[in-house]
Amino acid sequence: MKKIVIKASRTYEVQVEKNLLASAGASLAALLPPPRTVMVVSDDTVFALWGEKLTASLRAAGYTVKEFVIPHGEKSKTPETLFALWNALAAEGLTRSDLLAALGGGVVGDIVGFAAATYLRGIPFVQFPTTLLAMVDSSVGGKTAVDLPAGKNLVGAFNQPIGVFCDTDTLSTLPPEIYADGCAEVIKYGYINDPALLEMLEKDFSGDPEEVIARCVCDKRDVVEADERDTGVRQLLNLGHTAGHAVEHCSNFTLSHGSSVAIGMVVMTRAAIAAGLCDPAVLPHMLQMLERYHLPVTCPFTASELAAVAMGDKKRNGKKITLVLPRTKGESILYPIDAKDLEAFFAKGLEA
Ligand code: NAD
Ligand code: GLY
Repeated sequence: MKKIVIKASRTYEVQVEKNLLASAGASLAALLPPPRTVMVVSDDTVFALWGEKLTASLRAAGYTVKEFVIPHGEKSKTPETLFALWNALAAEGLTRSDLLAALGGGVVGDIVGFAAATYLRGIPFVQFPTTLLAMVDSSVGGKTAVDLPAGKNLVGAFNQPIGVFCDTDTLSTLPPEIYADGCAEVIKYGYINDPALLEMLEKDFSGDPEEVIARCVCDKRDVVEADERDTGVRQLLNLGHTAGHAVEHCSNFTLSHGSSVAIGMVVMTRAAIAAGLCDPAVLPHMLQMLERYHLPVTCPFTASELAAVAMGDKKRNGKKITLVLPRTKGESILYPIDAKDLEAFFAKGLEA
């Protein structure tokens, strides 16, 4: 088992191992012992596959277990779902001694974290991530949110969980395209600041993902511990995301988040090379890496289409937008530019 300690506004452990759901009750008892109520929140797909394993383990350890299951997908990450969850917590009479458990991908984890930040002004929550993306990224670091019609993650809170349990067995039921989404985030960590991870990724890690997941969690730990509230170095985690979010939006969300981030990384790398800010050897290496993990690399949109969306991005700060640019193979930098120059920058990233 890999264990990583995150020292943020709350200190907690991330565990990565096979079959962790079976021992979830005992693991949780070491943090907040029963008797108390655990509201398990999941989506319909994940709950059907893995819900019984988690709830049986919690009940066997002596917890009272309640369940709240939402339809799967981003469409559920709304204030309406949050409202329904708050009401369910109140109807079941959960108090601050009780806790919430998120069983699912980033959608469930983000909603549960925000509900836990706000119900009774804060109750504890624990994460059981079941997608690769949630294991390496969204379950760690305390960003929680729901979407508004005006954009993704526009209402949320920083709220750290009391523990994160990554049961790698759950990855066995992931559809390949959702697994590939997580691979885009894994690869991202390599180009941000982890050349050794890039070397590990030369060999397909799918058969034995524990070490790679733990390494990504360590990379995330380092930036979260340095900048929990996302005012500086944590923004490096947005590599590929400014262009990526624009790609996702322009495709009307038919391109997945991971695919869009992959395309976004390529656009920013090509633009950084054209601007003399990045070693040209990074681009062929990145293209090969993304293709190895079945991710797209070609942007189907124009610079003006991308810029129109990116100007509304919450990463924009007044007239400036901070880009994340690769510099060498395994090193990226924050690079603020005037928002008016963004379209021309994207255009450099689209030139063949
Ligand atoms: P998701 O939660 O929608 O899961 C993707 C799909 O996979 C869903 O249909 C789900 O039912 C299914 N699924 C999940 N686990 C499964 C399993 N083990 N077997 C079979 N099917 C399974 O999406 P995601 O990609 O996990 O997360 C994306 C969300 O995470 C977005 O809302 C994004 O904004 C958020 N996010 C948050 C952070 C953060 O720091 N909080 C970071 C990155 C992304
Ligand atoms: N996923 C970006 C962050 O946690 O900051």
